[in-house]
Amino acid sequence: MRVVSSKDEMRRACRESSRPLSLVPTMGALHDGHLSLVDRARSDSSTVAVSIFVNPTQFGEGEDFTEYPRDLDADLELLQRHGTDLVFVPDVAEVYPPGFDTWVDVGPIADRLEGAARPGHFRGVATVVAKLFGIVQPDRAYFGQKDGQQTVVVRKLARDLDMGIEVVVLPTVRESDGLAMSSRNVRLNPEQRNAAAAVYRALAAGMNLWSSGEADASKVRDAVRQELEAEPLLEVVDYVSVASPDSLEELDRAGRGAMLSTAVHLGPIRLIDNVIME
Ligand code: PAJ
Repeated sequence: MRVVSSKDEMRRACRESSRPLSLVPTMGALHDGHLSLVDRARSDSSTVAVSIFVNPTQFGEGEDFTEYPRDLDADLELLQRHGTDLVFVPDVAEVYPPGFDTWVDVGPIADRLEGAARPGHFRGVATVVAKLFGIVQPDRAYFGQKDGQQTVVVRKLARDLDMGIEVVVLPTVRESDGLAMSSRNVRLNPEQRNAAAAVYRALAAGMNLWSSGEADASKVRDAVRQELEAEPLLEVVDYVSVASPDSLEELDRAGRGAMLSTAVHLGPIRLIDNVIME
């Protein structure tokens, strides 16, 4: 496994490596969710590249950029064990040198849901992903359904800018109580960690209602909200959404393929989760 911090060296290493080449972009503090992407990339490709970069431009003012968990030694050990070939670990100045001024704007889908709660977030995500795609030039890139809106943004970016990269989306990996694995979960105390299970429980309640024949999206949203509000430690519910999987516009009728998603505040962190209605 080769660990590279310079863009030029990474570009060279990728050019020289055997194809197909797959990229798994991450911000580190790796867990089984990330590793499920690495494992799939490993079984699908000849070369597996993973990037670890806590991207400052996708964090808003007052968000947790400085508190974001970082553990490079542990990450490298995990990546080595999971058969990674190349790890890209640039610093901020390498990715955003002085004079950097070009941004990727994917249009209205970036302003809904997470984008409404975190203005500028998807501009930062789309820009860094475009840069990573440009440096690595992978055949395929792997993303988790956990960040549902991000998968829509990245697919659109790759398509609209004719990048010729296949975007592969894999299912959310969950803890045994349903909580979606996330690097930020380590910041929850045991009480908050228990309460966090309510997020998936609430989405499951919405799904159950829909599966039993209720297609009115507002009733589905209400069922989710009710379950979330029953958990006193969940402080603010940013949104409960039943949206079209392409435009991310809110739906009146919840049809197959719609994305049921929510974001809540719990202690020091914000939790997001979603399920696809199918
Ligand atoms: P990060 O939160 O580190 O996640 C990296 C990738 O792992 C993303 O595609 C994310 O959806 C996926 N992932 C995280 N938790 C998961 C889980 N429980 N199950 C399955 N997949 C999971 O997402 C980012 O970083 C950044 O926005 C990035 C794309 C790297 C751009 O900076």
